[in-house]
Amino acid sequence: MPISFDAAAKQFHLCNGNFSYIIKILENLSIGQVYAGAALRPGKDYSLLDPLPFSGFSNNDRAITRFEYPAYGNGDFRRPAFAVRFVDGSTVIEPCYESHRIYAGKPEIPGLPATYTEKDDEADNPAETLELELRDAASGLRVILFYTIFAQYNCLARHARFSNRGNKKITLENAMSLSLDLPDSRWNLITLTGSWAREFDIGDAPLRTGFQGIQSSRGVSSAQTNPALILRRPAATENEGEALGLSLIYSGSFIADVEVDQLDIARLRTGINPDSFSWELADGASFDTPEAVLAWSDSGLNGLSRQFHGLYRKHLAQGAWRDAERPVLLNNWEGTYFNFTEKKIVEMAAAAHDLGAELFVLDDGWFGKRDDDHSSLGDWFPYGKKLPDGVAGLAKKVTALGIKFGLWIEPEMVNPDSDLFRAHPDWAIHVPGRPRTEQRNQYVLDMGRPEIVDYLFDVLSPIFKDAPISYIKWDMNRFITEPYSVTLPPERQGEFFHRYVLGVYDLYARLTKAFPEILFESCSSGGARFDPGLMGFAPQAWLSDDTDAVERLHIQEGASLIYPLSSMGAHVSAIPNHQTGRLTPLPFRGMVSFFGCLGYELDPTKFSAEEQDTVKKQISFYKAHRPTFQYGNFYRLLSPLPGRSVTAGHSITNGRYAAWMAVSQDGKEAIVGVYKILSNPNQRPFRLKLEGLERDADYQVGVWEDGGFSEADKKFNCGDRGGDALMQAGLLLECNGPHGSAKRDFFSELFLLRKK
Ligand code: DGJ
Repeated sequence: MPISFDAAAKQFHLCNGNFSYIIKILENLSIGQVYAGAALRPGKDYSLLDPLPFSGFSNNDRAITRFEYPAYGNGDFRRPAFAVRFVDGSTVIEPCYESHRIYAGKPEIPGLPATYTEKDDEADNPAETLELELRDAASGLRVILFYTIFAQYNCLARHARFSNRGNKKITLENAMSLSLDLPDSRWNLITLTGSWAREFDIGDAPLRTGFQGIQSSRGVSSAQTNPALILRRPAATENEGEALGLSLIYSGSFIADVEVDQLDIARLRTGINPDSFSWELADGASFDTPEAVLAWSDSGLNGLSRQFHGLYRKHLAQGAWRDAERPVLLNNWEGTYFNFTEKKIVEMAAAAHDLGAELFVLDDGWFGKRDDDHSSLGDWFPYGKKLPDGVAGLAKKVTALGIKFGLWIEPEMVNPDSDLFRAHPDWAIHVPGRPRTEQRNQYVLDMGRPEIVDYLFDVLSPIFKDAPISYIKWDMNRFITEPYSVTLPPERQGEFFHRYVLGVYDLYARLTKAFPEILFESCSSGGARFDPGLMGFAPQAWLSDDTDAVERLHIQEGASLIYPLSSMGAHVSAIPNHQTGRLTPLPFRGMVSFFGCLGYELDPTKFSAEEQDTVKKQISFYKAHRPTFQYGNFYRLLSPLPGRSVTAGHSITNGRYAAWMAVSQDGKEAIVGVYKILSNPNQRPFRLKLEGLERDADYQVGVWEDGGFSEADKKFNCGDRGGDALMQAGLLLECNGPHGSAKRDFFSELFLLRKK
């Protein structure tokens, strides 16, 4: 049993054999945090692990106790996990342990995406859940804390439910998904921050006393801050040492922060951003927070990433596309932008098909009277000038070529210049009497209003039904300003942002249920809503509008800290790159995009014969190894970020090289991508230690001959090699060495390992 309760010690021990999470009922009946880390033996009392007084009774005690879901106002002066306001204006609350339940499997969270299990029988039980019910005697408020531990992953899913069982209204003013008090602060805090086209920058700095963290107040998780944070021990590297991470399964404004207190206790929290949140709980009403996942590893950051990857791949992504090989697509956006005709699209689709692509995606500009980004969002009917036979007519012509058809939508938006806005100006978010802010010439629909979600479902469903559509790219191209809902009463305006997210989830849930065969890819100006919340509906997402291959080495590396390869849309685009102006060779662009869901985003009719040949070989190689590239275990071997801690033993940390590796789930093949970004004069050869192989197995090592390679690297590395030698000594890379290796920038090569 992964979860046990020791009644004498009043202790809950959640343990999957690798990872233990221990909490206990304190003397004052609040819940204390005892331990989170490498597995401890079940069946023992671990109360003494905390050297501090563990009663939680006096103010002095409370200020130094490690609480599990700390309340406000009783002498714990750190930031609380939740806060309420009662009708008399008071805010003090003291929920006490009332009861608990332990059971196989995992319950759903109403209206919210969450991790799930499929088989909950005892024999093949992937997870077990603890429900802890606390009660505030004075008000009747119940707080139920949910904990699910997974057997195969060192992951704990948590969320809280608030139920008002008193007879007076209660206002929830803060409701974290997770709060965790760690006993010391000797950690580095890693965050993933950025901006449009610069998503997933890795920040890494030691924790310090006081308050630190990230937040989004944009109504979406945002490109500026991804809803995750990671702690690593200062000595931990990619493959060694202790790391733990928090990831919030949510797509709206959030916080993820750490407070280091007077005694070096580090309080981690993540949840809905309380700055713009409140929720009215009438008598009998309940509120569920989004779910947060805590993952732990003692094999460095790669080890931690693999916990998240496995969990999200198997227990968050859903439906037929969860495990299916994702199609190689060609998207017309960077090839044509808004300037296309049906004839042009059919020509592009035919060329894409000849190259081996399996899906053609028609991006923005097919609806209303949309010739640029000034009009028509909201008018989801085909633009006759461009598509004389409608979406269905075009889709039939495309699919007749032998390639599938996909379509772009941006359902949450409306342009002021649209029939929808002219008919329903009040549907766009605004505060009556105040100006509305336009971004990209558009407004946001109030997705918290069920009639708007109904309308969108009704207007989109026939399009999806009447045309042979296999794929939908769901975009969202601005943040939310003037937050206010004209349909909510004044005292409920604090619910606006969360209701918006619930409305988006509702529309996603209804469309994915109605069209289970369609592959949904989420997008928000690239990666502004690349989060686990949407992964619960759309198993892949467009990672960034920056398609430059060098930039992508950084962006895909950052995203891979939390997100699996199968979730990342990665496209080869034309040069000069539209975002950076950089000229990189086609093989380099291809080999970067291989690690993820490969696509092309350009006009394939403009390829030279040589480029056509290169792309055909890329697509055919990718298809032959697709399960490894999309679902394999991923290892960051060498970081393109200067100075970033990399696998112990590598001498190259100057940001001129990057290396990635994916090992197939069955362990039979592995692919190593090596990228020389900038050439170095007189660079000495170096060894690239591999990961994830079997020490005692032998591997046939080869290079991908069609992709380009260095003769020296081939000579030194190819042949029969032991897993031990490949992991302990590594590949010998010659770089610019004397034996004929490539002396040029943007050089890449792939090594292919087959287990013998
Ligand atoms: C932003 C997306 O990230 C792009 O890929 C493209 O779909 C445009 N929107 C279209 O407006």
